[in-house]
Amino acid sequence: MRHVVLPILTMIAAIVVVVIISSKPSSEWNIILISNSPRPASANDISLLQHTPAHAPDVHSPNTSTPPPPQMREDNRSSNRLSSSNGVNSSTTLKKSTLIFPKPRFSSSSSSSSSSSRLLYKLEARLAQVRVSLRSLSLFKNNRTPTTTTPLFDPDYVPQGLSYRNPLVFHRSYIEMEKWMKIYVYEEGEVPIFHGGPSRSIYGTEGRFIYEMEKGTLYRTWDPNKALVFFMPFSVVRIIRYVSRDRQAMGRVLRDYITLISHKYPFWNRTLGADHFMLSCNDWGPRASSFVPHLFHNSIRVLCNANTSEGFKPYKDVSFPEINMRTGQYMGVGGGSPSSRSILAFFAGGLHGHIRYLLMNQWKDKDPDIQVYEQFPRGVSYQDMMRKSKFCLCPSGYEVASPRVAEAIYAECIPVLISDGYVPPFSDVLDWKSFSVEINVKDIPMIKEILMGISTKQYSSMQRRVKQVQRHFVVNAPPKRYDFYHMILHSIWLRRLNIQVQDHDHDETHS
Ligand SMILES: *[C@@H]1O[C@H](CO)[C@@H](O)[C@H](O)[C@H]1NC(C)=O
Ligand SMILES: *[C@@H]1O[C@H](CO)[C@@H](O)[C@H](O)[C@H]1NC(C)=O
Ligand SMILES: *[C@@H]1O[C@H](CO)[C@@H](O)[C@H](O)[C@H]1NC(C)=O
Ligand SMILES: *[C@@H]1O[C@H](CO)[C@@H](O)[C@H](O)[C@H]1NC(C)=O
Ligand SMILES: *[C@@H]1O[C@H](CO)[C@@H](O)[C@H](O)[C@H]1NC(C)=O
Repeated sequence: MRHVVLPILTMIAAIVVVVIISSKPSSEWNIILISNSPRPASANDISLLQHTPAHAPDVHSPNTSTPPPPQMREDNRSSNRLSSSNGVNSSTTLKKSTLIFPKPRFSSSSSSSSSSSRLLYKLEARLAQVRVSLRSLSLFKNNRTPTTTTPLFDPDYVPQGLSYRNPLVFHRSYIEMEKWMKIYVYEEGEVPIFHGGPSRSIYGTEGRFIYEMEKGTLYRTWDPNKALVFFMPFSVVRIIRYVSRDRQAMGRVLRDYITLISHKYPFWNRTLGADHFMLSCNDWGPRASSFVPHLFHNSIRVLCNANTSEGFKPYKDVSFPEINMRTGQYMGVGGGSPSSRSILAFFAGGLHGHIRYLLMNQWKDKDPDIQVYEQFPRGVSYQDMMRKSKFCLCPSGYEVASPRVAEAIYAECIPVLISDGYVPPFSDVLDWKSFSVEINVKDIPMIKEILMGISTKQYSSMQRRVKQVQRHFVVNAPPKRYDFYHMILHSIWLRRLNIQVQDHDHDETHS
């Protein structure tokens, strides 16, 4: 066994993912996919997960007694690889080591454990190959398909152009996901809190996603040993509704649940939750996850409220698009050409949170070009307004995400993100700068100036790209390739590619 395992481990250690992590339990994690080439890592890299806002603050742990991170082992090989030769700036790195997950503290029957270990090694070896192929593709720096590589055939869609950070890598990664992604959905827990969620209104995507996962349409496996990731199908919206908004009660539900699955199965302990994911569109998603520190710090949290000030980590968490399923359907796509859009900028919505307050204060009833409403005028359709506007303002409300982002994209209106610490959905593959405008909260007084500064030509290109990315925000029933569901799963897939799971049982019995 050793002969098989060692080369694989070496390969993994040598090429793959290096987790840079500090030795102090409370400090921030960071992940960089290391390139073999001396070329500096760039945004077009498969280091898709490097999207860390420049001033992302440290984790605000909900509890100062945070758990220790998974045990680290110094690995001199990877330390060397991480040296300045590849251009990765080490000023943010505290300690370079390969992530080795802690030994499972259970003793299961050795025969089943070693066959599941073998499966795990196979899975990991496969993922290592995928990383190598993505890595080699990512060496093509320009945004075009290199002539030396045949583009993959795809009957449905081939991502191309500037909407993507690197369309070629994305496409390959997507196709690899379709081949290898397997998700185990825990069956524990009772309806209505588990196995379902709201399917209408602003949190509707929470229930939709859980429903599709339960139905088995999205890479579900019933054999947890074959799973790459594990889904915990609880609904935060439902916990609030059926249990309580009370912190104690919410904490109890989640702690009991994690205790249950971590005692009943070996998988949670194997990685302390790092290959497990939860999902929530409710503002309270981050808070709910904070009741179990490992869930907060290790697991993949798919959250609408992707607020970096509340511990959202782009390398391990996934930004979940907030989509208002008004009638149980998303509003259809389409809108006018650039020249038919008579309003420069439009917003309508409640006075939630300080950013909107600043916006209203500055622009309400001030300028016909910037139409902002708290109370929407009667007899005008919201959708029509979006379709008649060049830019749709999407300020954060009580939480960072806003359903207006997806609505603007549907209406082919360029979204203007006004937020602080918001990581927009799919920023691991989409280049948001190419089809949206980001405005700092402090620049709210300059909105008009900034938007007027965008030329007609530039506007047309941006709008073309908005149309191109529409498919990624569309909620189809049943799901279709490259749509909302598959994009979220692709984001989860990328987070899973960034970790390496080991079963130490195996090491012990065979070395
Ligand atoms: C923080 O951790 C301590 C000790 O583990 C625990 O007693 C306390 O209830 C926790 N607080 C929260 C908010 O979870
Ligand atoms: C790393 O290098 C140091 C000094 O060269 C050595 O003492 C240590 O054992 C090495 N660690 C590993 C994991 O190889
Ligand atoms: C690394 O970061 C330091 C400080 O932030 C900066 O001065 C230096 O130019 C950076 N080096 C590279 C290669 O980006
Ligand atoms: C996982 O770890 C917890 C805490 O250390 C332990 O109580 C539990 O029995 C472990 N689970 C399994 C399946 O061994
Ligand atoms: C993001 O989180 C911080 C810290 O909790 C909070 O102060 C801020 O209001 C949040 N942003 C939004 C828009 O909710």
